[in-house]
Amino acid sequence: MKYLENRSFYYNNNKLYVESIPVEEIVAAFGTPLYIYSEEHLRHQVDSFNAAFKEISPRVFYAVKANNNVHIIQTMHALGCGADVNSAGELYKALKAGVPGNFIIFAGVGKTEEEIRYALQSEVLLIKAESEAEISTINTIAGELGCKARVALRVNPDVDAKTHPYISTGLLSNKFGLAFQPAYSLYTSHEFKNIHFTGIDMHLGSQILSADPYCEAAQKIVDFILTLRASGLNLHHLDMGGGFGITYRPEEKSFDLPAFAQSLSPLVKNLGMEIFFEPGRFFTGNAGILVTKVLYSKKNGMKEFLVVDAGMSELIRPALYSSYHHVQPVTIKEREERIFDVVGPICESSDYFAKERELPLMERGEYLAVCSGGAYGSVMSSQYNARPRVPEILVQNSTYTQIRRRDSLEDLLTGE
Ligand code: LLP
Repeated sequence: MKYLENRSFYYNNNKLYVESIPVEEIVAAFGTPLYIYSEEHLRHQVDSFNAAFKEISPRVFYAVKANNNVHIIQTMHALGCGADVNSAGELYKALKAGVPGNFIIFAGVGKTEEEIRYALQSEVLLIKAESEAEISTINTIAGELGCKARVALRVNPDVDAKTHPYISTGLLSNKFGLAFQPAYSLYTSHEFKNIHFTGIDMHLGSQILSADPYCEAAQKIVDFILTLRASGLNLHHLDMGGGFGITYRPEEKSFDLPAFAQSLSPLVKNLGMEIFFEPGRFFTGNAGILVTKVLYSKKNGMKEFLVVDAGMSELIRPALYSSYHHVQPVTIKEREERIFDVVGPICESSDYFAKERELPLMERGEYLAVCSGGAYGSVMSSQYNARPRVPEILVQNSTYTQIRRRDSLEDLLTGE
């Protein structure tokens, strides 16, 4: 079998390490299932993002939806990122993490009035709006609060990002954004006295690996910005969204961000606008693994299964998007390899991590790492089957800290 490694998650003497700590040491302290994150990997990703785009010196807003643990948000802010938030809950967590309002972008296709009020009271840098009705609501609430709302319209460039349909957002058949024509009418309308249009926004989708759709969309937006300028409207910033892909498979060529940046930057560099990005997965995706224990191996007909103690309640991506997550042993031993499905304990056939994968014959009680679990892992977890939420551990060089504890059984009754 092949192993997925990077500078922060690697094998040394056949043992999987996170930075300088053996995974087994953390498992011995906290049990399984559990998530482990590497601060070094987060830093490395932020540094490589900034280096790739240095020609346009963008402002970077970490998309909190990828991993909203308050300590991860705090770490991302310490690394120089603002926050892109999508709900009152994410705004609350970003503020609690110490991100100031003017480093926060408030987004979302369906904001409630309470959320808009909370965002304005928190003096966020801007609200992204996606419909005329929403602009009108923001205008009314800003009037009530006696403030002027800084707003960017999210335009829908109608470009196919060629990613999984559930995480594609830049086509007019998706619910997101506004087509150029209605956006133009809104930008040039004088109806909204309490709105200050400061920028324009797009987001094409997630896990995008090719620069082509991004550049096509950027070109359309640049043309649109020039049309707005000709009508006398000068916007200050262009928010290009997130969506930069990561490597999920060992055999995959790693995503070439510098090449991506080299294609994109010249298109926007001479606009005289501040460029914003909102990456999530690119920062946290490969900064985390989910560690699980092998409970049983079993055979049904010709098929062999490894039944593990984590399931779709901890990482739903395989069940929801048929996503590939590499699964590898925490300790490598010389032994026979066979083809297995790796499945969880939940009463659903979609509760699996891997199908038809080459894996060694694992023994009961041994550990597997489900890789690339740092983005859209714990944030999409649930208590389905009344399973307590699992701990999250942040490794920082030679130390590790529990940044979320395991739920107790009593926690399952909270609020009931
Ligand atoms: N900005 C906006 C407006 C977004 O909607 C998203 C993601 C991002 C930024 C960050 O995208 P990223 O850089 O992380 O690709 N649960 C799915 C992904 C959903 C992404 C939703 N929006 C998954 O597990 O693949």
